[in-house]
Amino acid sequence: MKPIVLHVTAELSPHHKSGGLGDVLAGLPPALARLGVDVRVVTGFYGSASKVAGLDLRPWDAPIDVSIAGNRMEARVFEARTHGGSVTTYFVEAPHLSRGKLYGYDDDLYRFAILGRAAVEIGLVLDRMGTPPAILHAHDWHAASAVLYARTWPGPLRGVPSLITIHNLAYQGLAPASQAGFLGYSPETYHHALAFDGALNLLKGAFVVADRITTVSPTYAREIRTARYGHDLEHVLRWLSPKLIGILNGIDAESWNPATDRALGAAYSASDPEGKLACRDALRFELGLSPGRSPVFGVVSRFTSQKGIDWVGEIAPQLVRQGGQLVVLGEGDAALEHRLYWAAQRLRGSVVYVRAFDDGLARRIYAGSDMFLMPSRFEPCGLTQMYAMRYGAVPIARATGGLVDTVAPLHSQYDVGGATGILYEEESAEALAGAVEWGIQVARDPGAMHALRQNGMRSDFSWERSAETYLEVYMDLGLELDAP
Ligand code: ADP
Ligand code: GLC
Repeated sequence: MKPIVLHVTAELSPHHKSGGLGDVLAGLPPALARLGVDVRVVTGFYGSASKVAGLDLRPWDAPIDVSIAGNRMEARVFEARTHGGSVTTYFVEAPHLSRGKLYGYDDDLYRFAILGRAAVEIGLVLDRMGTPPAILHAHDWHAASAVLYARTWPGPLRGVPSLITIHNLAYQGLAPASQAGFLGYSPETYHHALAFDGALNLLKGAFVVADRITTVSPTYAREIRTARYGHDLEHVLRWLSPKLIGILNGIDAESWNPATDRALGAAYSASDPEGKLACRDALRFELGLSPGRSPVFGVVSRFTSQKGIDWVGEIAPQLVRQGGQLVVLGEGDAALEHRLYWAAQRLRGSVVYVRAFDDGLARRIYAGSDMFLMPSRFEPCGLTQMYAMRYGAVPIARATGGLVDTVAPLHSQYDVGGATGILYEEESAEALAGAVEWGIQVARDPGAMHALRQNGMRSDFSWERSAETYLEVYMDLGLELDAP
């Protein structure tokens, strides 16, 4: 029997996602399954926000108990083979949780406490069936409750080794201290684990009780121990350093492949790159950009201050003056949306802003862009720069977090070597403008562009290596693989 690793996550592509978390949960589990792990994923079922068409969903016979602190609630579990059949996923439909959107409600903390509670209950059912989870692996604050409940409530899951993976330290799951009892935590657990700065902090609580803390790139693992990137938890993370490790994300090279991507009008690959030009022309046509030979700069992003979208808006006129075109896809913060909307109005024909969440268009932007902007203030890993490289768009990124670990920086356009993109350091619009100015020069140099593209498209970002490192961590915590 293969050992079970139970992952708990709010997002799971292609069923429901708001960013890279969903993609990681699409890519890592099958890679672990290939290494001999029986991977099970617990996630929410959010009603209309969950795309489950085509899945063979089997409802569990009996509802499960998701009561917290005496508030009686029942949830329904739908089991399905996902990830091409290699993984078992449990979709949890529960009061509060299943409302039609993933996030954005006042009671999100409670909603995801219910997800954590359901994960524990599913673990207990597996235990009763004689197949207990060998490892509990929670992702981000939404799943932190699973680790906290498993570890601090009496029962057979108490001794199951656990990991919490930080995909983004900016979101921690905060509530007033007075909520601890309502969320099912004893005063001891509050004081020992959850309390931070006079409030309840779920992520910090999971850091304290979990056996390992992982994050999604080695550079981010170092950065979050500093005041600049620690989101106030740097001291906690320094204290817990011995159990903190950075493991770089991969990408799903099958789903993200310009040779087979059905969202694109033309197929291409590193050995046959012609189709990329057709994709660029098609993108211009689709979005109403003037035809011609200007280099196209792409952005696909959540609109939050993390991503430096304000700087993109600020430098747009200069990018156009220098002969570039800009395509931006994203939604979120209203002030950032306005900024991009007005930039596109003023620079019609050269700048397009699409306010939407649109996976197909995102893929056509990776394919149709010459360069891809990622001026992040911080970036735990970042998947979009890897998708861009795989689709032959050269990233221009700020040197932070996973961007440092995935983009090999260009030093001279006359000697590209192994470079895959442009990295710059300073956090400012001027620094981004400088990098873009160089990018435009490079984009006009066919030799340099060809070499950069080839290096990017041929880079290996597959999940295999990362999955092996996760497996080492699991084994270090006691997981035993059966002899093949
Ligand atoms: P983050 O998780 O911080 O948002 P990542 O780079 O890890 O950043 O992952 C972002 C993921 O979300 C990528 O799959 C990207 O294509 C997708 N994405 C972001 N914004 C949009 C959008 N507006 N439309 C479609 N896909 C988007
Ligand atoms: C987060 C981070 C991003 C990372 C993703 C998946 O949302 O912002 O950098 O790639 O999670 O780990």
